[in-house]
Amino acid sequence: MTQTTRAIRIHAPGGAEQLQLDTVEVGDPGPGQVRIRHHAIGLNFIDVYHRTGLYPLAMPHGIGMEGAGVIEAVGEGVTHLKVGDRAAYAANPPGSYCDARVMPAMNLCRLPDGIDFETGAAMMLKGLTAQYLLKRCKPVEGLEAGDFVLFHAAAGGVGLIACQWAKALGLRLIGTAGSDDKCALAREHGAEFTINYRTENFTQRVKEITGGQGVKVVYDSVGKDTWDGSLDCLRPFGLMVSFGNASGPVAPFSPGILGPKGSIYVTRQTLFTHISSRERTQAMADDLFSVVGSGQVRIRIDQRFALADAQAAHRSLEGRQTTGCTILLP
Ligand SMILES: NC(=O)c1ccc[n+]([C@@H]2O[C@H](COP(=O)([O-])OP(=O)(O)OC[C@H]3O[C@@H](n4cnc5c(N)ncnc54)[C@H](OP(=O)(O)O)[C@@H]3O)[C@@H](O)[C@H]2O)c1
Repeated sequence: MTQTTRAIRIHAPGGAEQLQLDTVEVGDPGPGQVRIRHHAIGLNFIDVYHRTGLYPLAMPHGIGMEGAGVIEAVGEGVTHLKVGDRAAYAANPPGSYCDARVMPAMNLCRLPDGIDFETGAAMMLKGLTAQYLLKRCKPVEGLEAGDFVLFHAAAGGVGLIACQWAKALGLRLIGTAGSDDKCALAREHGAEFTINYRTENFTQRVKEITGGQGVKVVYDSVGKDTWDGSLDCLRPFGLMVSFGNASGPVAPFSPGILGPKGSIYVTRQTLFTHISSRERTQAMADDLFSVVGSGQVRIRIDQRFALADAQAAHRSLEGRQTTGCTILLP
């Protein structure tokens, strides 16, 4: 049975004005797929990269990689979900900015009863990212309670989750953010120290905070603007985890620079490698559900927009006006 749905799509890469509200057909799920009706949709910075063309998509294309809702139909071979289940996801392909969609079932997880749709939609992509960054991305000398780490954009969606989770793990997180208010918010959520990197030299401050030692891991999603300074925050054998480009992509560099900085390690990570199997997706989601269920990590939704107002939501996210998570409501 084919029905129609509202969907925000892009027909050409560009600014927020490229986000168009279209009416598209949605059919029945094929093998390995489900149809989900969204109750809430998560906004992520990767949606901006898709929209601008930094991460190219075939056009026209749906946008958005996170959502929560109710399973309406289940395709052949899908055994972990049934019609009527409440579910949430972080998943490819982009296309969550809509009322309903057909999509691969692999990355959809049943939402525990205690977690509402808005929280589910806000936390999957950002929470699973914090999970793999802190638990599956280890420096060669290990990461123990008491170790210093540096987390950029600490008051953002991924950032506030990471601050809380790092604290629960006993890590001493130094967070950077673009205003004093954002710094205060990061501290309220578990960052032990914060640095306003618009007004302070974060590399120098990290050296002071760590008594000249540097941190074991830098989690850098800002990219171009923070790359060089981040490398100089690491202690010997430390790990630079590059996982985003909010300020622009990192310029090419020579591996020769890593030796004199203390034989440091560099990795570029993406969530989609980590959630490439159903089993690992569920195991990571169970870990996330557990810290959210216990209250160790609270999912803070600071911005809510109507689905039709996706343009305003994008302007706000890329204009550095948001804190915590942002959701769209169908
Ligand atoms: N690789 C992965 O697996 C993965 C998964 C999820 C997210 N990410 C990345 O993690 C980052 C956080 O994602 P999010 O969705 O939670 O976004 P977010 O942190 O809520 O928003 C991005 C933040 O980046 C900071 N920023 C610094 N320079 C910026 C600039 N020139 N333009 C815009 N923002 C700038 C801003 O905070 P301040 O004002 O405090 O600087 C802004 O609020 C993004 O870079 C995203 O691509 C990567």
